[in-house]
Amino acid sequence: MSRILTGIQPSGRPHLGNLLGAILPAIQLSQDPANESFFFIADLHSLITIKNAEERRQNTYAVAAAWLACGFDTSRNVFWRQSRVPEHTELAWYLNCFTPFPMLVNATSFKDKSEQLSDVNAGLFMYPVLQAADILLYDANLVPVGKDQKQHLEMTRDIAASVNHQYETEILVLPEARIDEQVMTIPGLDGRKMSKSLNNYIDVFLPEKELRKQVMGIVTDSTPLEEPKNPDGDTVFTLYSLIAAPADAQKMRENYLAGGYGYGHAKQALHEAILKKFAAEREHFNHYMTHVQELEDALQAGEAKARAIAGETIKRVRAVLGY
Ligand code: TYM
Repeated sequence: MSRILTGIQPSGRPHLGNLLGAILPAIQLSQDPANESFFFIADLHSLITIKNAEERRQNTYAVAAAWLACGFDTSRNVFWRQSRVPEHTELAWYLNCFTPFPMLVNATSFKDKSEQLSDVNAGLFMYPVLQAADILLYDANLVPVGKDQKQHLEMTRDIAASVNHQYETEILVLPEARIDEQVMTIPGLDGRKMSKSLNNYIDVFLPEKELRKQVMGIVTDSTPLEEPKNPDGDTVFTLYSLIAAPADAQKMRENYLAGGYGYGHAKQALHEAILKKFAAEREHFNHYMTHVQELEDALQAGEAKARAIAGETIKRVRAVLGY
């Protein structure tokens, strides 16, 4: 049996990149009866950027609603908010003391984000250690994530190996990242990686009109309507080919190459494809967002399960460390 674990920060509402890069592949893995899945909301991580409690709470519900709307079966798996299991921060402290300072200084996400953000706090710096604790606390084997998380997984393995080496025991399980090549970096409206912080995302759970506005905002080149266009590297085509049926994607490819087919047509087709692919998920998402008690019930049941497992790991770690 493999333990699958992944987390999403409630630093905004979940977007198409989160869905295609993490939520859908993770749910697919969770459907294999041989796997046990641990999916959580990294609400402690989001305090780095979101100080407003109500905003964070609403985003947390939106992330929870997305997991449930996409079909995560919480009855046979574990689903929780990181902040409700204090063992995450306890283990993070222990791991801090095994994490070389230069490893954090040189982390790509720290370098990128410390340039983008005006508030460069110590939480941002120690972020990968808390992430390592999230994973190691549950003895996870596989962590389905987008490509941007690859280095964090490598750091998790390094930190775990360092603890194991120090105490000459396999106390921590070394996890592996699962990164699906096709969806590892979903492009955003401006062609850069789709992300909350770049404000270039598509929120598939928006009302139809607002969703259409976002899709129409995708940046394309200025090739005139009548001329042939290159589908490869074009954001509209890339997103369409990940969402629409393969035959429809092939048709759009041919339309691009033939000319007489404008980016406006392609965006319209993408909008329709999103509405079609996520029709049931959109409906369920809206249901959960207007019945947050159902989200609370699922999370609180999961939090009891998560605390029991985390408590066992912490006991084991304390014993080895001599506490
Ligand atoms: P976060 O919240 O930024 O993103 C959640 C997941 O979505 C993936 N993702 C993408 N995949 C493809 N293309 C994109 N444009 C794109 N944008 C986001 C991310 O790779 C991620 O899998 N540090 C994590 C949260 C976290 C975590 C963990 C993950 C905390 N602890 C433990 C795994 C295990 C983060 O900020 O992801």
